[in-house]
Amino acid sequence: MASFNKFFTSVLLAIAYASATSAFAIPAESTHATHRTRLVGRGLKLETFHPASSYQTFGAGLDHPLSKRADTDLEGASVSFVESQLKVNSSAIKYRTGYSADAAKHAYVSQVHNGVPFANAVANIAYNHANKVVAFGSSFVKPKNIAPSTPTISVDTAIAKAEQALDGKFNNHPATLEYLAKDDGTAALTHVVQIRNETAGTWYQAFVDAHSGEVVSVIDFVTQASYLVLPITKEVLTEGFETLTDPQDLSASPNGWHSTGTTSTTSTDGNNVIAYKSSTSSTTPQSSASLNFIYPQTPADAPTTTANVNAARVNAFYIGNSMHDIAYRYGFTEAAFNFQTNNFGKGGAQNDRVTISVQDASGTNNADFSTPPE
Ligand SMILES: *[C@@H]1O[C@H](CO)[C@@H](O)[C@H](O)[C@H]1NC(C)=O
Ligand SMILES: *[C@@H]1O[C@H](CO)[C@@H](O)[C@H](O)[C@H]1NC(C)=O
Repeated sequence: MASFNKFFTSVLLAIAYASATSAFAIPAESTHATHRTRLVGRGLKLETFHPASSYQTFGAGLDHPLSKRADTDLEGASVSFVESQLKVNSSAIKYRTGYSADAAKHAYVSQVHNGVPFANAVANIAYNHANKVVAFGSSFVKPKNIAPSTPTISVDTAIAKAEQALDGKFNNHPATLEYLAKDDGTAALTHVVQIRNETAGTWYQAFVDAHSGEVVSVIDFVTQASYLVLPITKEVLTEGFETLTDPQDLSASPNGWHSTGTTSTTSTDGNNVIAYKSSTSSTTPQSSASLNFIYPQTPADAPTTTANVNAARVNAFYIGNSMHDIAYRYGFTEAAFNFQTNNFGKGGAQNDRVTISVQDASGTNNADFSTPPE
């Protein structure tokens, strides 16, 4: 049964992937992926959708509309700023949370309709020490159709539907009512409930349409992958290794780091990078399911010991993939001829992932990067 499930899952993922790419609808002005299709629970195929977001920075900072008033708090300032930037009525903006410190302040707001907040149409505002706005990000939407804001399906019915679809139990975390912007330009009213199955190790936040009872989206709270590595923000080994969970950027690597979309691995062999020693069949497997790569290095031992080779391959895999994902955000995409096995139909030439040979036999204390033609 287990192997049948695995086969079934990979076939369906392949189909999900094929249909997701043909329907890939990234707005022309956006370089960020907004869709992700996944298979959950009892063979349910769902798309997670994040509306395209805008992001602006303002150098030395902009005054918010209420900046001359001494008594303005972070909430008032942020609502008025979003109102003026997006030209929306303040009744369409709800302050969610914020954080104030001497050097900076941050505020997070949601789009609202008839008092019901959107789960995936949000904005964030960053202020500098002088109370000026220095950055603004927004994924607010202008839906062509918004479902009525009073549910016709009860929350209990929604919970039962979600439990059935996701093969788990409601965990009594308070259910909420939220709008969900969908990729067809409409907004669904949803009951948002958490469904868990401790035996199966799953934990989802489910969005159940409060008019149709259909599970329309999920957020998966379970970690997909972890790596014991020297974080890219550190310079030398003595600064200390850390276990990073889910460092992959799904905008740049939509299937994570271990899948080409058609082939999945559980080793340092992926769509952007393969990290190996001596031969490409000599990669590091996961240390435990699923996709944990926890291999402590032993500095006192020779680099060639198994422990140190594994640590080296995992770290090289992490660094190569991180560079891929960071460069992607700066425009080194498929169409710009980046390095990937599968380009997901987004242009450029494929089958050219980066191959990293750790402790290469050709020499020591050196590194090479070869770039044959695409
Ligand atoms: C904002 O919305 C409220 C409630 O719908 C309405 O009464 C008010 O006139 C609107 N304000 C503006 C400036 O459109
Ligand atoms: C949890 O998942 C297992 C399979 O791993 C399944 O047998 C069980 O029925 C599920 N529990 C619930 C409450 O759905």
